[in-house]
Formats: sequence, structure tokens, C-alpha cells
Amino acid sequence: ELIDGGISEWSAPSNIALVKYWGKKDHQIPANPSISFTLKNCKTTTKIEFKKKGSNTNKEGFSFDFIFDGKTNDAFKPKIQKFLERINVYCPYLTNYHLMISSSNTFPHSSGIASSASGMAALAMNVMDFERLLNPEMSDDFFYKKASFLARLGSGSACRSVNGSIVAWGKQKDFTESNDWFGVEVKQIAPVFLTFQDTILLVDKGEKKVSSTVGHNLMINHPFSEQRFIQAHETMSKLKSVLEQGLLEKFITIVEREALTLHAMMMTSLPYFVLMKPNTLHIINKIWEFRAKTNISVCFTLDAGANVHVLYPENVKEIVLQFINSELVGYCQNDQYICDEIGHGAQKI
Ligand code: PMV
Repeated sequence: ELIDGGISEWSAPSNIALVKYWGKKDHQIPANPSISFTLKNCKTTTKIEFKKKGSNTNKEGFSFDFIFDGKTNDAFKPKIQKFLERINVYCPYLTNYHLMISSSNTFPHSSGIASSASGMAALAMNVMDFERLLNPEMSDDFFYKKASFLARLGSGSACRSVNGSIVAWGKQKDFTESNDWFGVEVKQIAPVFLTFQDTILLVDKGEKKVSSTVGHNLMINHPFSEQRFIQAHETMSKLKSVLEQGLLEKFITIVEREALTLHAMMMTSLPYFVLMKPNTLHIINKIWEFRAKTNISVCFTLDAGANVHVLYPENVKEIVLQFINSELVGYCQNDQYICDEIGHGAQKI
């Protein structure tokens, strides 16, 4: 039954993949399984006011306004339009309403930190919050699963930003609940990983050179794609026991190799891309030197860009931050970095 409207507000965090999603099939189905740490501080907060359209207005299409950081923003509108079109069959009630969407990020928009995961997850949470008004009987389980399902249609990795600290996505034999449709929290995790830190070094804040849509498509007809997808399955299996048992050394090898593999795929596709900058490599080498010298369990991972995520356990936070401040900050644009850590997922405001 239709109601006159409603207001919802949710925040959703970004996430950083340990095993990377790179390559997809139609309808946002991943070509390989992936798993990520949910972040805590890097997040998007989105509020939606749903207002029933007047009786003589067009009920067919979507009607929405988008405000970003307090200002009307047309640049993001096509992405939101596309998201609404993709979720339309699953949320047919939406076309009866006008949506006033306002959004902001805790991290600078042009920082090179992908905001699509947090942004799309936040949108999906709000849509589900409204759906719950229409269907008050809805269980929490359904709420979170469908929210992740909808978020996936906005941006694949967004489905891993909805619920849980470590989230798997994509069918995989050892993660028995993991599936292609929505992200699933991985619950058997050694304590050391549940307080992991992620310091994001902002090496290059420039606009992304490869959109992830283009990036994923580069895996179609890629000479190494088949092998890469097999490898991702095998790596997931290995990582499962590493996460359960708290095996830091193996964790480091897996995570760094995944980051470099993602970039290796981009460097060998057609067209090819090198998204690392000289400073990315300087930082990687410094991390390796520091680890060899101190035996401290610190490692890096990368997104589809030049920024470096420095991952380490909480109990070495002080010494790693000292290292970052004395040896790595100089490689960051305007000395900028963001201290984050593992979080829990989206939250109602
Ligand atoms: O969610 P998308 O389509 O923006 O793709 C994200 C791809 C990577 O960030 C490079 C890897 C991942 O698994 O998050």
C-alpha cells in the first residue's frame, strides 16, 4: 500500500578489498569472488526524503533531486539515474515518489578514494529503509541482504559495504554462504584482524584514469583472465584459514600479491594502464625495507589507482604511524593521509 512519504538517513563506509574483484559479467555478477575489510571513517552519509508524486504527474520515470555537500550537483545525477533504473524491477514502488537525495562524504571527494562503494551502499540503505515503511513485517536478515543486493547493482564492491567487518562476495567453494548476488559477513576471524588499521596514503588525488566499468571490461578477452579468475578462487581458499587462524605472515603475502596482480592485469590489457606513480613504488619499497628491518607485520594494498593502503595490526599502531610520519608522508600529495580502521558496516542516523 502506498504511503505519502518518508525520510531516511544512513551512512555507509568504503571498503578495501584483500582479494580483488576485477572483471564482471552482465547484471553486475562478478567474474571472481572477492573479500574486503569494511572501513570505519571513510564513509558517505545520505538522506532521502520520499514524497508521493501528485495525481497528475508522470508515474513512469524517476524523479529526484541530488544535493552533494549542500549544493545541487548534476555531475553525479547520471550515476544515480542508472542505479534507480537498475533497481526498478526490485523496487517498483519508487516511481510513485519524488526523491530528495542529499549526500556528503567524510573524505575529500577528489582524494582518489573511490566513493562509489560507500555512496551506492548508502543509497541502497535508504531505499530499503523506505521499503520497510511499506512492509513493516520485513526481517532484518531480508533488509540487509536486499540492501547489499541493491548496492551491488549500483557498484559491485558496494555490496561489501553494507554489513559486517569482513565481507565476501561471489560464489566460492570454501565460503559456503558467499554468493554472486550480495555480500556476506565472514564471521570466523581471529581477533587480530578485527582491529586492523588502514592508513591511506594519498599519492595522487587526480581524477581516475580508468573508470571501474572500463576496467572490468578489460578483463573480457584479456590473455590472462582465465588464470586470474582461477587464482582468485585459490587465494580466497588460502585466505580463509589465514583469517581464521590469525596468520599474519601469510596474510601479508596474499594481500600484497593481490594488489600487484590487480595492477598487472591493468598493465597487460588492451588498452593498458599504469596507475601506480613513482611515489607508489617508493612507498612500497619503504614498507618492504621497514618490514625486513623490524619484523613488524605491516603491508600494503592498492585500489585501481596510485594511493597506497597501509595495513597493520592495532598493537603496532604507534610505531607504524611514526614510520609513516617520518618516512612515507613525504611521498603523499600535500603530505595527506587518512587514518582508518576496520568498521562494521552501514548505520542508521
Ligand atoms: O565496485 P567497482 O565496480 O567500482 O569495482 C571495484 C574494483 C576494485 O576496487 C579495484 C577492487 C575491489 O574488489 O574493490
